[in-house]
Amino acid sequence: MVNARKYVVKNLFQGVPKREDFDIVEYKLPPIQNGEILVKVEWVSVDPYQRAYNSKYPTPYDQFGFQVGTVEDTRNPKFPVGSRVVSHKGWCDYCIIDTNKQGAMAVDRVYKLPNLKNLSPSHGVGAVGMPGATAYFGFLEICKPVAGETVVVTGAAGAVGSIVGQIAKIKGCKVIGIAGSDDKVKWLEEELGFDKALNYKTMDIGAALKEAAPNGVDCYFDNVGGEISSTIINQMNNFGRVSVCGSISAYNDGQLPKATVLQVAIVTKQLKIEGFMVYQWINQWPEAFNELTNWIITGKLKVREHVTEGFDKIYDAFVGMLAGENVGKAVVKI
Ligand SMILES: NC(=O)c1ccc[n+]([C@@H]2O[C@H](COP(=O)([O-])OP(=O)(O)OC[C@H]3O[C@@H](n4cnc5c(N)ncnc54)[C@H](OP(=O)(O)O)[C@@H]3O)[C@@H](O)[C@H]2O)c1
Repeated sequence: MVNARKYVVKNLFQGVPKREDFDIVEYKLPPIQNGEILVKVEWVSVDPYQRAYNSKYPTPYDQFGFQVGTVEDTRNPKFPVGSRVVSHKGWCDYCIIDTNKQGAMAVDRVYKLPNLKNLSPSHGVGAVGMPGATAYFGFLEICKPVAGETVVVTGAAGAVGSIVGQIAKIKGCKVIGIAGSDDKVKWLEEELGFDKALNYKTMDIGAALKEAAPNGVDCYFDNVGGEISSTIINQMNNFGRVSVCGSISAYNDGQLPKATVLQVAIVTKQLKIEGFMVYQWINQWPEAFNELTNWIITGKLKVREHVTEGFDKIYDAFVGMLAGENVGKAVVKI
């Protein structure tokens, strides 16, 4: 019998999630059965959707989320002892996974950690995991960027946004990133090669964007929603494309906030605005993981992680990420 710990969400979050909304539960795992594996968790991901989806689950529920771990016991030879797996078993330190239950969604699957070629296994929940696939498909498939076009990305210094901006540079675009601190702006411009970065907390984004993109915006990758997105969309060129990835500016709000209408811009500029869930490309994720890994290894794509250490610190990492403390992908080392 293995002693395990997990985070259980007790309450519907009101505003910023509180520590008291979670219980850490200790329990014993039973011996594994046919098809099951026992996994020692090494890395746990904290992500915005863990906040956004709270109201969709009846409480109490085990906190879901992507994680990377090592197989310690196995009743499926395809997952030998010592191999690493990615699953959606969430915030726990040990878990049993039934490898026979492979659903249509990534959240219902377990898969072997992609070949990361000496990169940290933590990338399996970051640049070579769900957020990397989100940036790759959400940007390339929906924005369909063309070299020379101007691309704007919000949440630009985060897990998804920092990869989107760099893929846009790889594709030969001019890239403008919007993020929430001067340090993030500096990182985007000086280390990631963004053509321009803007701090939405200190700048008038409408005026700053007119200056940074005097010829208008062709593609917008929207991580944040709200008024900033309305401002950007109103500065788009004819036949511009908007990939709507998320709306983190509203995740902690009880009621959906209001923003300037977009219809005039959508109609007169003939814009395409498309939302997506990264799971629609689940069967192509391995292709993206290959290309993303190669870009990282060859230095075309720079990845940064914001690492918090300790199982007891997952809550702090989660609310820290929601507050913008992370540069790059927020992960917790268990
Ligand atoms: N559609 C999909 O399938 C899919 C998949 C994955 C992620 N997503 C979405 O992608 C977005 C980015 O996710 P991520 O994992 O890459 O997270 P992230 O950007 O690494 O972390 C969240 C960031 O959001 C920013 N933020 C917080 N409050 C904000 C506000 N009021 N206005 C503007 N920015 C705010 C913070 O950066 P600042 O310091 O810049 O404020 C924070 O660092 C989220 O909206 C998420 O829900 C969608």
